[in-house]
Amino acid sequence: MQLGRTFLALTVALGLAACGGGGGDGDTAMGPTDPVDPVDPVDPPQPTPVVPEPNPDGPTAYVYDLPPGFPEPLIPDDNPMTVEGVELGRHLFYERRLSLNEEQSCGSCHQQALAFTDGLATAEGSTGDIHPRNSPSLTNVVYNPTLTWMNPLLVFLEEQALGPLFGEDPVELGFSGKEDELLERLRRDALYQVLFGNAYPDQGEPITLDSMTKAIASFQRTMISGNSPFDKFVYQGDDDAMSEEAKRGFLAFDSEGLECNHCHGGLNFASSLTHAGNPNDPTPFENNGLYNLGENGEYPRPNVGLFEFTERVRDYGRMKPPTLRNIEVTGPYMHDGSIETLEEVIRHYERGGRLIGGGDLAGDGKQNPNKSDFLTGFPLSNTQRLELLEFFKSLTDDEFLNDPRFSSPFPEE
Ligand code: HEC
Ligand code: HEC
Repeated sequence: MQLGRTFLALTVALGLAACGGGGGDGDTAMGPTDPVDPVDPVDPPQPTPVVPEPNPDGPTAYVYDLPPGFPEPLIPDDNPMTVEGVELGRHLFYERRLSLNEEQSCGSCHQQALAFTDGLATAEGSTGDIHPRNSPSLTNVVYNPTLTWMNPLLVFLEEQALGPLFGEDPVELGFSGKEDELLERLRRDALYQVLFGNAYPDQGEPITLDSMTKAIASFQRTMISGNSPFDKFVYQGDDDAMSEEAKRGFLAFDSEGLECNHCHGGLNFASSLTHAGNPNDPTPFENNGLYNLGENGEYPRPNVGLFEFTERVRDYGRMKPPTLRNIEVTGPYMHDGSIETLEEVIRHYERGGRLIGGGDLAGDGKQNPNKSDFLTGFPLSNTQRLELLEFFKSLTDDEFLNDPRFSSPFPEE
């Protein structure tokens, strides 16, 4: 079994490498004795992506090929999934001209190999502005009832995309007040004329902000991860896919002693799951005891949690419990990236909250009055800690992290 998986990962990786080298004009195989051409390292050739053919038949409905056990996603009526919309969205997601200075795309902060995170504690925008929060994974984002760490009102991916494009504090992509320039860039480009025309043929002007955000949303709605060793064991009946250690780790994770499943439960290891049969699953925002400032158990500004939207003191520090799928590759952890490793995360929960001994942030998160009652702490042996880590690793879906359908269509990315 292990062999089979390695083989699959290898073929996917090789396939990718072949695509990544695309833009050349033939299969000129290189033998071991061929002389190596000196390549100018300063100015490598920049192949341009192939402009697809216009499609006179109109968009084709996108049909999900869902992993076993996965429910039908909930798709907004005004943005049906089409193959052409998804393809356009993939281009836009990785398009650097979506930042004013052409330094960044969505994919800069949401990198596929890191399950669409960026490896930073807190994100950095195209002009160098530091975002106060950590870039969350986009794994299975179609099933999230609410978007971002603290906002209970942001539910549509179409709307979410406007944040990074036009936000001013912090600047991410930097188009505040320059919407026309953004659209002009795309309208001048033959590639986008065809891609938008194919995806939204019934509009007088297909290249609009509305169709842009719809396409990006459609692409993100295809980012489904359900082929990890855990999935193979639980949903696909492959007993050998998970190690015995990982299985014991899962049992502990799922136990009343650790209580993790109350907030990271179900198919997505999250606190809520929205899908076609379950449109209105509410997101319970929770405080997991990272900080304890002042009288009211506050969190460092501006990351005050749900409080920002409700102004109820008990909502200080309440965040959306994120999915734990692909958690092995999405560190650093928490809304502000303040926990470096998964072992430290486990120790955080063992203690039942974080103690910060000195400095501006001094305080005992375990005593935070807003902390969830589920987090009381528990003892773990070294072996149990390792088993929990093995369970986390069993949520890594190599196929998802390498799937060419989710990767950049542009050669140099
Ligand atoms: C500068 C880095 C950066 C860029 C560029 C960026 N994002 Fe993000 N993204 C973030 C951060 C940070 C958050 C968390 C924001 C928060 O909690 O307020 C986030 C949150 C999200 C979420 C919410 C996920 C969830 O489940 O909560 C989605 C979806 C998303 N981004 C998509 C996009 C798209 C689409 C683009 C391009 C239009 C984009 N991002 C550009 C950093 C970035
Ligand atoms: C009461 C709800 C709750 C319980 C119980 C809970 N968590 Fe969490 N978890 C959260 C919240 C909320 C966050 C994000 C907190 C933040 O960033 O401020 C989080 C974050 C995490 C993260 C980091 C995720 C990321 O992408 O940064 C991991 C890993 C994690 N929890 C594992 C666990 C484990 C293991 C347990 C059981 C020992 C557990 N959690 C129990 C609510 C909970």
